[in-house]
Amino acid sequence: MENFLSKDFWNDRWTNHETGWDIGYASPAIVSFFEKIEDKNIKILIPGCGNAYEAEALVRLGFKNIHILDIAPKAVDLLKEKYASNHQISVLCDDFFDHNSNYDMMIEQTFFCAIHPDLRKKYVEKAVSLLNTNGKIIGLLFDTVFEKQGPPFGGNKKEYETLFKHYFEIETMEICNNSIPPRKDKELFIQLTKK
Ligand SMILES: C[S@@+](CC[C@H](N)C(=O)[O-])C[C@H]1O[C@@H](n2cnc3c(N)ncnc32)[C@H](O)[C@@H]1O
Repeated sequence: MENFLSKDFWNDRWTNHETGWDIGYASPAIVSFFEKIEDKNIKILIPGCGNAYEAEALVRLGFKNIHILDIAPKAVDLLKEKYASNHQISVLCDDFFDHNSNYDMMIEQTFFCAIHPDLRKKYVEKAVSLLNTNGKIIGLLFDTVFEKQGPPFGGNKKEYETLFKHYFEIETMEICNNSIPPRKDKELFIQLTKK
């Protein structure tokens, strides 16, 4: 695999503060979705979590079983410090593709676009293996083409439908109506349920 997607690549981005993807707060569309979920005991994974603002939002909403995972040790050190006294959040340093556990929901927030497109099928298969029956992927996928070589890597609804439909019921895959302003009309909100 290209070196730019390696653990060292991502760790260097964190060490050099090159984290232009970081919006500084939890994505409103993801928060809105979880506001409506009553069972606060579901086990949730946020892969490629970065600063994991969604995890803080989930704690505020009462969720108790949140697992955040990133490949970059530098990011994970920051997260471990930030969430040291937070027992609802467990912080994991791992490659998503090597991770083994089981979850009820997985949150997608600019992780899918960070991996090389050649790995997208592997992402879907890994998500299937990590999710319990009827488990869900909730989050956002870019619906745009980026001019510069990624990451981020863009995509479109047709491509995502083809990728996910064999393994997931596509409950929602629509232009997000509460994107942050710079991403308005450029991302799809997804709710995918494992078949
Ligand atoms: C574009 S950033 C997004 C971070 C965060 N989700 C956000 O929206 O602010 C992608 C993150 O995924 C992490 N990452 C990249 N490849 C990974 C992998 N194979 N397994 C786990 N984390 C990975 C990077 O270290 C980085 O923090």
